[in-house]
Amino acid sequence: MDAYDCVTTLLDIRTFGSKPVNSEIKLKILEAGRLTGSGINTQHWHFILVEGKDSLKKLANDSTTGRWVENSDFAIILLTNPKYGFHLIDAGRATQDMQLAAWSFGVNSCVFTGFREVTLRKDFDIPIGLNPTIVIGFGYPKRVISGKTKNRRALGEVVSLGKYGIRFNEDAYGMAPTKNLI
Ligand SMILES: Cc1cc2nc3c(=O)[nH]c(=O)nc-3n(C[C@H](O)[C@H](O)[C@H](O)COP(=O)(O)O)c2cc1C
Repeated sequence: MDAYDCVTTLLDIRTFGSKPVNSEIKLKILEAGRLTGSGINTQHWHFILVEGKDSLKKLANDSTTGRWVENSDFAIILLTNPKYGFHLIDAGRATQDMQLAAWSFGVNSCVFTGFREVTLRKDFDIPIGLNPTIVIGFGYPKRVISGKTKNRRALGEVVSLGKYGIRFNEDAYGMAPTKNLI
């Protein structure tokens, strides 16, 4: 899968099968996060690798919008430093890089951002000064997913030409239709 196919077919999947993700792939996913560029190259982030049923259950209990993580193979809690105004952008970039790296190996993922912060901090020893910004759960799909398309607004609805509101006519660009299904 090339980078374009990877981006255009990635979906957030919340159900996972029991096949474990091997440590080499886990390491590559973490490397994808580590190697992401951050604002002024601050690299203020920290990645907590969460493995094992008990810890994943704890993580699910600490979540308000990501109970599904309990059935993932492993998860990463991404901490960022809120003293940098761009920390959420950095978190988003690192998250997407890790999700894309995972998907290039056929590993699905999804994210959540709703936490019970007090218990999450306590359960995973998260220090003051770093925020739990996003959690990504990973795993192989439960069953082969195919023919699923992305539910996205059309290019013409989200792109302007030159100035906001000036219609962008994608046909004039002769674009090949995006392969947005898996
Ligand atoms: C910033 C952000 C926060 C999200 N928070 C949650 C969340 O708390 N729980 C959840 O299940 N999914 C969450 N998602 C996943 C989105 O629902 C998902 O990306 C969107 O529905 C598109 O899914 P698709 O790529 O499978 O079409 C979040 C995604 C983003 C980008």
